[in-house]
Amino acid sequence: MSDSQKDQFPPKGPSRETFEGTNFDDRDLQKVHAQLLREKEEPSENFSPMPLFLVALFMVFAFWAGIYLVKFSGDFGPFHYDETKKPGVAADTGPKEVDMMALGKRIYNQNCVACHQADGNGLPGVYPTLVNSDWVQDNPDRLVKVILAGLAGPVTVNGKEYNNAMTAFDRLSDQQIAAVLTYIRTGESYNNDSYPVSEERVAKVRSEYGARSEPWSQPELESIHGPVTGEWEPPAQAETVAQPADEGEQGEGEDAAEETPAMDAPKEA
Ligand code: HEC
Repeated sequence: MSDSQKDQFPPKGPSRETFEGTNFDDRDLQKVHAQLLREKEEPSENFSPMPLFLVALFMVFAFWAGIYLVKFSGDFGPFHYDETKKPGVAADTGPKEVDMMALGKRIYNQNCVACHQADGNGLPGVYPTLVNSDWVQDNPDRLVKVILAGLAGPVTVNGKEYNNAMTAFDRLSDQQIAAVLTYIRTGESYNNDSYPVSEERVAKVRSEYGARSEPWSQPELESIHGPVTGEWEPPAQAETVAQPADEGEQGEGEDAAEETPAMDAPKEA
């Protein structure tokens, strides 16, 4: 076999079969050669470096992910996103006005929708309805208690019996609780025609009952607030006299004064 033939096996030109047939008559030898040629390279222990473009691609992605996180993480706060915020309006132009209905809707969708459902109808026999509910339209203090500590055991809602448990939502702020209750009590979505709930009212109930951790039962709540009828009116003095005085400190009194141009509000301009 010449040197050039050794270099390349099978040699260029005639096919391997022809080459073998003319150079070796031993069929066994041809067979062994054929087997050797079919064999793959032996696996070896070694490192094969990762392709550079993959490394580069990974770094580009990591970099992009970092930027994305910093930009859009919202400090990882669950309630960071504020749909009531208007773009282009400076943040600190006077006291912040919160759209309680928008906030309430958001709180509802984040916390209540899993059980009471988007339409508020709950699930028959399992989760009571909030739609046109006697509970929802009754005393808001009762509802604040339910939100703060939960509700368990047999309850009757709109004449239907339920015996399940609602978890506590004491992690919600006073404002968030006021908003979600205002949303379900006054919105058109759930067909309840009652009064909004103020943050102060929630704060008051929380200061009295916030320490309680076991859920309320219907009899317990009725021993405080009386039976659930769905007929609740704000007590005359407590709401109309005491409240504007409270809210006046927070700048909301001005709105009230505009509606009823009254004695003690000095007209500006
Ligand atoms: C884990 C499921 C669950 C979640 C989440 C939940 N609830 Fe409930 N809710 C219940 C159950 C169950 C009852 C009835 C409790 C019983 O059977 O003792 C109830 C009762 C009520 C009631 C009184 C009965 C009625 O239907 O009017 C109100 C009001 C209420 N929930 C409001 C809310 C609000 C507001 C939220 C969100 C902050 C919320 N719930 C979140 C399960 C839930």
